[in-house]
Amino acid sequence: MKKKILTILLLFLWGFTSCDDGKIYPEDNVNGAEGSTLKITAQISGVTSWPSSYSVVVAGFGDSDYAIISKGIPTPQIEGETVSVVLSGVTDKVETVELCVINSLRKRIATFYKTDFEVQADTIYMNAGVVDAGIFNGIQQTVFNGYCTNCHGASTSAAGGLYLTEGKSYAALVNKEAVSSPDGKLLVKPSDVENSFLLDVLQEGASKHYHTDILSGSPEKIDLLKNWIEGGAI
Ligand code: HEC
Repeated sequence: MKKKILTILLLFLWGFTSCDDGKIYPEDNVNGAEGSTLKITAQISGVTSWPSSYSVVVAGFGDSDYAIISKGIPTPQIEGETVSVVLSGVTDKVETVELCVINSLRKRIATFYKTDFEVQADTIYMNAGVVDAGIFNGIQQTVFNGYCTNCHGASTSAAGGLYLTEGKSYAALVNKEAVSSPDGKLLVKPSDVENSFLLDVLQEGASKHYHTDILSGSPEKIDLLKNWIEGGAI
């Protein structure tokens, strides 16, 4: 008899605690609130080419250019080394996950790898492959490919003889004399923004063709070019 009472009591207690243990929110909601965990792997180079006001990160973005969540990439000991970053608490506000560079305001400056994101219960594994995260590649992807190559080399000809396409742009700019500079300025003079004609063209309209409107709405792109030159145009 005593045993029976004890069993009933135990069953009651078990029922009580397991009930307390139960989920209050439906599965989806719990994940949405607490977020997913992402593990991203990449063979990365160029991380140290950025000035300290920028960070190479894995970040989640919603509908704005400002990162909702981010985590720094560990500096690889060897260029091209495989690094892994774990980002947890990625909620359903995040629409894309990117291997990118953000500035001190957390604004996206350059993206090297991007993928759509949806919350999942299990850890999500991503492989970004081989990534050149260097500052010059950042400029190529965000500035030249987006705003310049249409005229400067992507079609059959290059405006002003200047190729700003991938693989050609660096050699066409760094330590090259500008065709349209009356004082024979270099297009890019490493560590010397004042004497780099590229910025005279973009900010002061120094070429015959009007250029000052192109990046006027994105001062952070002009800053990116200046920072690259100041850092030695590597
Ligand atoms: C709509 C076409 C067009 C676009 C877009 C354009 N350019 Fe140009 N660019 C030209 C033309 C045409 C010239 C030659 C003008 C001249 O003879 O002065 C030129 C000349 C230049 C020069 C001077 C070259 C020299 O040796 O003197 C630089 C530097 C330059 N562009 C940079 C850029 C950059 C950087 C971008 C993107 C942010 C860009 N351009 C976008 C048409 C364009």
